[in-house]
Amino acid sequence: MKKVRILDKDFELFIEADTIQESIKRLAVNINNDLKGKNPIFIAVLNGSFMFAGDLMKHVNIPSEITFVRIASYKGISSTLDLKEVLGLNEDIKDRTVVIVEDIVDTGHTIEKLISQFEVLEPKEIKIATLLFKPKALIKDIKPDYVALEIPNDFIVGFGLDYDGFGRNLQDIYKIKM
Ligand code: IMP
Ligand code: MG
Repeated sequence: MKKVRILDKDFELFIEADTIQESIKRLAVNINNDLKGKNPIFIAVLNGSFMFAGDLMKHVNIPSEITFVRIASYKGISSTLDLKEVLGLNEDIKDRTVVIVEDIVDTGHTIEKLISQFEVLEPKEIKIATLLFKPKALIKDIKPDYVALEIPNDFIVGFGLDYDGFGRNLQDIYKIKM
């Protein structure tokens, strides 16, 4: 079993790169079918979604745009409840089909906050695409439209997700060893 040490914690292999890629392809097929003719604008949330967004877009074959925003929401291994504003959206999303691209939906707090800030800009609709979803951690009344992989409540790193800034570069996803 592959293991990595990041800062003061040990992690073990959880989802291999091939599995991640297959699930991203499946998600892209669903998006291509559902959003054909809608010219969606993908809004990827940095930093965590950078790898997912890159690999997803290689398989999106409908006319679409992608842009990136930043929101700081996570310190250490537990969600903080005070979120900062969405930064860096320069595009006009009025009457557009928006697809928020996230690394992970955990409590749903971040997504809820993003949706409420985008709704003010009067898009036609807002869809949520996430690499990972922890259904058992969800406390907010939201449901991601496109999920690549559902996972249990363990803390994970890799493929864009970090532990205190480190581990985003890993090709596979690792879970914390308790
Ligand atoms: P939420 O607001 O509780 O849904 O948390 C969403 C954010 O928390 C994500 O965008 C991640 O940045 C971070 N996060 C949640 N779970 C994990 C994890 O297991 N590993 C690393 N980051 C996580
Ligand atoms: Mg994030």
